Amino acid sequence: LGRPREHWAELGSTNDRAMAWARAGAPHGALVTADAQTAGRGRLGRAWASESGEDLYVSAILRPAAGKAIGALGLAVGVGLREGLARWLPTTQLKWPNDVLVGGRKLAGILCEARWIGSSPEVIVGFGVNVGRARFPGPLADSATSLRRELAAAAPGREEVLASILPALEAALGEFFAGGFAAIRGRYEPHCALVGKTVLVDLANGAGPKVQATALGLADDGALLVAPGDGEPPRRVESGDVWLAP
Ligand code: BTN
Repeated sequence: LGRPREHWAELGSTNDRAMAWARAGAPHGALVTADAQTAGRGRLGRAWASESGEDLYVSAILRPAAGKAIGALGLAVGVGLREGLARWLPTTQLKWPNDVLVGGRKLAGILCEARWIGSSPEVIVGFGVNVGRARFPGPLADSATSLRRELAAAAPGREEVLASILPALEAALGEFFAGGFAAIRGRYEPHCALVGKTVLVDLANGAGPKVQATALGLADDGALLVAPGDGEPPRRVESGDVWLAP
């Protein structure tokens, strides 16, 4: 990952630029980075604050082999990010599906977007890592953190962080493409912030109310398994969001 690479001072969204570059024929592994984004996008239609100039905004173009299942790819990206950051922060956790948290605060987010060309997926793996920013705007003040906020003067620089993440990401993705999520589940589940906890979840994939359930673990395909109540059979959560119950 990272060859070729484009770096921009400012973009709308690195994912959008990567999509356009992919359409123009960019190869597997091509990487887009930016100092700032004016329209950084998060999951579920949310925005990603991207103005600092001190954080990582990255999108990689992947061209997996035809017919590959990519449903759990974002989980593999989370594993790679977590492992790439572990030399500085060994206790980060993964909040299903793929947020990277430290001390319950969000350090990194992942947005994977795919399109199909016949049976061949073309995937944009976008991730943002809060590296150098010391302060977050209002609503994020308590929910987000950065390497700088966690490590102060010992915090690494942006390029150093990227150089650590890329090989870890490549390794996790390689194992995922070879053996599916089951091949890396053992590197996800022990670090999952939700497993064993009471969570609030919408069991109708966005159409229903939030209910309390106990997160049991992850299925071989990456679905979150939850037990809604005593004696009820486990249910699969395949999309959307899950919150720790207060
Ligand atoms: C989330 O946590 O909801 C996902 C956030 C993903 C943000 C990254 S920053 C680089 C890439 N470009 C975007 O517009 N979004 C992703």
